[in-house]
Amino acid sequence: MSIGIIGSDQIGSAFARAVVRSGLPVTIANSRGLQSLKALTDELGPLAKAGTREEAASADIVLVAVNWSKLPGLPAWNGRIVIDANNPIGAPPFRPAELHGQLSTEVFADLVPGARVVKAFNHLPPNLLLGDPAAEGGRRVPFFSGDDAAAKEEVARLIERLGFFRIDLGPLSVGGRLTQFPRRPSAGAEPGQVRLRPNVTPRQAERNRPAHPSRRSFFAPFPFVFLRRTR
Ligand SMILES: NC(=O)c1ccc[n+]([C@@H]2O[C@H](COP(=O)([O-])OP(=O)(O)OC[C@H]3O[C@@H](n4cnc5c(N)ncnc54)[C@H](OP(=O)(O)O)[C@@H]3O)[C@@H](O)[C@H]2O)c1
Repeated sequence: MSIGIIGSDQIGSAFARAVVRSGLPVTIANSRGLQSLKALTDELGPLAKAGTREEAASADIVLVAVNWSKLPGLPAWNGRIVIDANNPIGAPPFRPAELHGQLSTEVFADLVPGARVVKAFNHLPPNLLLGDPAAEGGRRVPFFSGDDAAAKEEVARLIERLGFFRIDLGPLSVGGRLTQFPRRPSAGAEPGQVRLRPNVTPRQAERNRPAHPSRRSFFAPFPFVFLRRTR
């Protein structure tokens, strides 16, 4: 399985680290070109290589993590799997983008015609994405959703290979809505809806808080779910 990553900074590089740690090769692309990726690929070692966006986009599974206003146009996808890890936030400043009534993942899917889109990894900050998913005796959970069952299964296998616990939130129309930020449903779910209850102690919440003060409000509503085995 080959992995491509478009966007090499906070989320892209965290995902690259997690992928390499799992023993898979990865091609990473950004907007500034190969030379700007040298320090990262040197650090990650022989499994990682810098590429153009087109090279990264030709992998079996491609994670896109770029600022919302810079979502890239790319060549034909021909059914390849694209993970939408993006949130509709203009950055900086951190303001919600106008989605005209669509889910952000629907807007994203329109930009990658022919791709099988799986929404995932948009609700984990980089420190949790690159940290040990089994730290503290549990398993960190990236939620995922999508409309193509085979594509979702491939991404679920990748999630497990990275050491996380998979939770499938269903089609994009459901999972994309539940994990959308901002403007996702609040913790108070309506009757018949799934209620997601994060099992996070105050100590974990403090540790999970992103370091940069300007990002605190950005992440406050996210469900950092961490499963623990109970007897
Ligand atoms: N930060 C988080 O905690 C977090 C968590 C979950 C999801 N997200 C979402 O993930 C996405 C990325 O966030 P981030 O924090 O990683 O952003 P970031 O640190 O600003 O990184 C953005 C990356 O996108 C690259 N990029 C921009 N335009 C591009 C283009 N046209 N083609 C290829 N690469 C391009 C940039 O490369 P250059 O530097 O070369 O321009 C940079 O590597 C956003 O949608 C964000 O909402 C972020």
